[in-house]
Amino acid sequence: MFKINENYLQLNRNYLFSTISKKIDEFAQVNPNADIIRLGIGDVTKPLPASVIDSIHKSVDEMSKKETFRGYGPEQGYKFLREKIAETDYQKRGLKIDADEIFVSDGSKSDTGNIGDILGYNNTIAITNPVYPVYLDTTIMRLGNSDKLHLLECNEENGFLPEIPSKPIDIVFLCYPNNPTGTVMNRKKMKLWVDWALSNKSLILFDAAYEAYIMDEDVPKSIFEIENAEKCAIEFRSFSKNAGFTGLRCSYTVVPKALKTISSNGDVQSLNLLWGRRQSTKFNGTPYIVQRAAEAVYSIEGQEEVGDLVSYYMNNAAVIRNGLISKGWTVYGGENAPYVWLKCPEGHDSWSFFDQLLEKCHIVGTPGVGFGSNGEGYFRLTAFNSYEKTVEAVERINTHL
Ligand code: MLT
Repeated sequence: MFKINENYLQLNRNYLFSTISKKIDEFAQVNPNADIIRLGIGDVTKPLPASVIDSIHKSVDEMSKKETFRGYGPEQGYKFLREKIAETDYQKRGLKIDADEIFVSDGSKSDTGNIGDILGYNNTIAITNPVYPVYLDTTIMRLGNSDKLHLLECNEENGFLPEIPSKPIDIVFLCYPNNPTGTVMNRKKMKLWVDWALSNKSLILFDAAYEAYIMDEDVPKSIFEIENAEKCAIEFRSFSKNAGFTGLRCSYTVVPKALKTISSNGDVQSLNLLWGRRQSTKFNGTPYIVQRAAEAVYSIEGQEEVGDLVSYYMNNAAVIRNGLISKGWTVYGGENAPYVWLKCPEGHDSWSFFDQLLEKCHIVGTPGVGFGSNGEGYFRLTAFNSYEKTVEAVERINTHL
């Protein structure tokens, strides 16, 4: 008889956001007239920037002509996009990242989930608690609920920022600005992590999907702003949250050539080569049209439009944060991140607050406990809805709860 990967049986039955959308559907069926405001999944609502749409139209036309049609592209991404990313997101900021260290993909969810393919099964892995569920679930898919998995406790006492591990850890997932808590890591703290990784020969998997929302100068947008991080870190970036690509799908992963480790035969191994090898076998590249769309993000107009999108959502974050604080709620995040993390009112756990918010205010959020046990008693609201809906949501909360 064939066997399944039984590690899957150790996962929660459903992915967090699937459970939530099922609950919303059930509520909407019973309450067909309810005007539900969705501040749950971190999905953008504003349309794609005009420069991105123009570029999509142009590349669709290219695909229609024999001379300019494109079939399979390079698995790691087209040179035109890799060069633009390296130049704009890194070199212009004084960071030495080259185009051949950039791997274009269809989303940070895929890349943070797939990166384990090039990492050994015997690594000890640390994730924060609470955490973006993909790091936990994909680790369990590979290792099961293994004693190799360690949780870095994040709570009110440490401002939802993890302490440097006290036990040996080979690989750590860090996400800053943080999903779900909206907290950020300043330069000093990030340097502690890089120094720890270098001295322990550990690897940092750094998810920077929300870097566009950083307003504070003291918060690095890239882990490679920290000296020598290219020897211990891989960085994941996305076009989803800054340029509205959640439906279009494009991201990139930076695997520096300086990032090396030693295999059991004593040879030095480059993770850049391994990830390139993995991608060329398992991935046929992000669509040409989508890569042209991402390229447009780097045009002068594109940069302005993306800046406007980010400001729009950050204004929403301020509406939620300030609106709730003014009524006495305890709130984290929302200042350098599109997520606001609030403490549920006395007597509520995360799911009972979810139900109350849905029933009394017709608002959907994400229960903190869905991100891990330390999220119990907390709740996440996103800034990605429209300004009008966001204002109304805060009014409803402050009126009905
Ligand atoms: C979230 O709501 O946490 C995000 O939408 C997750 C994601 O980007 O995959």
